[in-house]
Amino acid sequence: MNKAKIILVKNAEEIGGRAADIFADTMRKKPNCILGLATGSTPLPLYRELIARYRRGEMDFSGVHTVNLDEYLGLAPEDSQSYSHFMKTNLFDFVNIKKENILLLNGLAENVEKECRHYENTIEEWGGIDLQLIGIGHNGHIGFNEPSKEFIVETHLIKLAQDTRKMNSRLFNSESEVPRAAMTMGCGNIFAAKKILLLATGRNKSEILERALFGTVTPRVPASILQLHPDVTVIADADTGEKLKRHMLPN
Ligand code: PGA
Repeated sequence: MNKAKIILVKNAEEIGGRAADIFADTMRKKPNCILGLATGSTPLPLYRELIARYRRGEMDFSGVHTVNLDEYLGLAPEDSQSYSHFMKTNLFDFVNIKKENILLLNGLAENVEKECRHYENTIEEWGGIDLQLIGIGHNGHIGFNEPSKEFIVETHLIKLAQDTRKMNSRLFNSESEVPRAAMTMGCGNIFAAKKILLLATGRNKSEILERALFGTVTPRVPASILQLHPDVTVIADADTGEKLKRHMLPN
């Protein structure tokens, strides 16, 4: 039986609200917490809700540090397709997180290995991630940890899977523009977070979500490693979580 706490809600907006409650709780208990953030379509309702609560004076990010899961290789932070830019335009520009408390991988780093080690070392110096937000890819990836023969522990350079590039091409002019490689936190870095919050929306992820949470733990489905973590909360909309119901105990 999976130990994760699974919450099924009506729709993406509701996921945003429930996820924001978990962020608020973490920040209330530890105002100088380290938040691990994610990009993609899934966290957008959460970021909108965090901004709304900040504007209403309900949340204060002044002591918070943030780190991000991943970044495309070869894109400058200012590039409109970069994940740095995504975070700036969807969250950082609208809340009071201090610039010096934001850690992002630099897609233009000359020495990728050095960049990855610096990234991990900084997270460690800051005290480790308190709450890591993640989505799940259609192939079971977390961050950009693509299906592979082994779980890669450390922050590393990865060649993007063809289906990931195809999926992400919706945000580019064409598939050929999607970078072929990225830097990503490893499964070990994600696993080291004290608490993990996995959000999932969209019916076409229901099968992979079930495999990740209830199938064999295997690097072929990187998200399956979450089964071994002691503090995982999964929030999904009813359609995406449909296949999970048969594994859940009735309330
Ligand atoms: P999405 O991406 O939120 O855009 O679906 C999730 C992921 O690929 O991890």
